[in-house]
Amino acid sequence: MAPRLLPVLQSLILSAAATAFAQTPQTAQAPQTPASEPAIYQGADLALGRQLIAQHRCAECHARKFGDDGNAVYRPQGRVNTAGLLRGMVEQCNTELNLGLFPEEVTAVAAVLNREHYRFTR
Ligand code: HEC
Repeated sequence: MAPRLLPVLQSLILSAAATAFAQTPQTAQAPQTPASEPAIYQGADLALGRQLIAQHRCAECHARKFGDDGNAVYRPQGRVNTAGLLRGMVEQCNTELNLGLFPEEVTAVAAVLNREHYRFTR
């Protein structure tokens, strides 16, 4: 190999490495949340929340006790009337039912219920 080529090759390799580095996926952005989302639900993992709601059969039990499809239990006009109380209620079910949800999972579940049923803004 001609010695003149070496520096050229080196800089090619370096720039290829730099390009590869630049293309590594950025750390995931927090999901977009509407401005009306309560502060405690900002950035909550909604996909995780939906998955946990399905996995823990929340709707099955609620449906047995409250009739309909299991959504009648969620009463936005009831006692649970702020985002904080909603999260607290999910925490209570978590504790009573021994679901073993981590705090951020409780938040994720509550954020989904808020999006789909309660629609609290604070
Ligand atoms: C074994 C039955 C059962 C399961 C499973 C269950 N719940 Fe409940 N849940 C209840 C009962 C009973 C109530 C009503 C309590 C009351 O009104 O005092 C309730 C009430 C609630 C409420 C309050 C509703 C309101 O507006 O007053 C929320 C929120 C809730 N559950 C969330 C969940 C979530 C989330 C899950 C799954 C992770 C879950 N629950 C699983 C039985 C269950």
